[in-house]
Amino acid sequence: MRMRKKRHLEERMERCGSILIARGSPEKNLKHAAETFRALIDYRETFGNDFPVCLEVGCGNGKFVAELAKREREKNFLAVELCTNVILTAMERVRAENIPNVRFLNIPAEILPCYLPARSVETVYLNFSTPLPNRSEERQRLTSPRFLELYRDVLADGGTIVQKTDSEPFFDYSLEKFAECGFEVVEVTRDLHHSAWAKENIVTEYEQNFVSRGLPIFRAVARLK
Ligand SMILES: C[S@@+](CC[C@H](N)C(=O)[O-])C[C@H]1O[C@@H](n2cnc3c(N)ncnc32)[C@H](O)[C@@H]1O
Repeated sequence: MRMRKKRHLEERMERCGSILIARGSPEKNLKHAAETFRALIDYRETFGNDFPVCLEVGCGNGKFVAELAKREREKNFLAVELCTNVILTAMERVRAENIPNVRFLNIPAEILPCYLPARSVETVYLNFSTPLPNRSEERQRLTSPRFLELYRDVLADGGTIVQKTDSEPFFDYSLEKFAECGFEVVEVTRDLHHSAWAKENIVTEYEQNFVSRGLPIFRAVARLK
């Protein structure tokens, strides 16, 4: 079902302008844009400090990144979300709570190389990315090799990807691709909410829904070799 466009979307996006770094793609051909267009973020200028930078891809309504940024005041966070209607909720949350260490990119993750300097990110968070079970959709999965190569380029030495999902086939697929693409899987749980990581876990909007239905949550940490 298509989500109805939010009321006064453009005016509200404009009000969040100070925390929005990029919007849309410089051109329709995302591959070409990712290879040619550069508007690399100056982190010091953006955040006013040299703290490590973390990235959430597909941040949805921003519940996770807002909570993590409040916990980790000495880190900076970039939150990427394709859908303007959705990222607006995340930005309004961060703006209302005056959280200083989060910025947003309303772009497809495919063009992240346009904005992120190589080897500049400490952690990539992938929370409940759409599993896209059809083979024909494999390239769109956020843990497919083309995305893992992209994360590999922007991650600093020893950087990690932290993935959570409700989908076991997608989880197994991701573990396989991490290993194939130069990552070492260093943590795995197939029932996060009954594991040692449950206490520190920040529950996302989608996660809340799955957990309320009694479904197990899968979590992995993969480190760049
Ligand atoms: C299933 S939702 C999960 C939202 C949130 N992470 C959570 O756990 O509640 C996946 C989100 O990823 C976004 N997304 C999917 N593919 C994307 C891409 N290539 N680039 C940026 N965002 C993407 C979608 O628009 C959607 O909001």
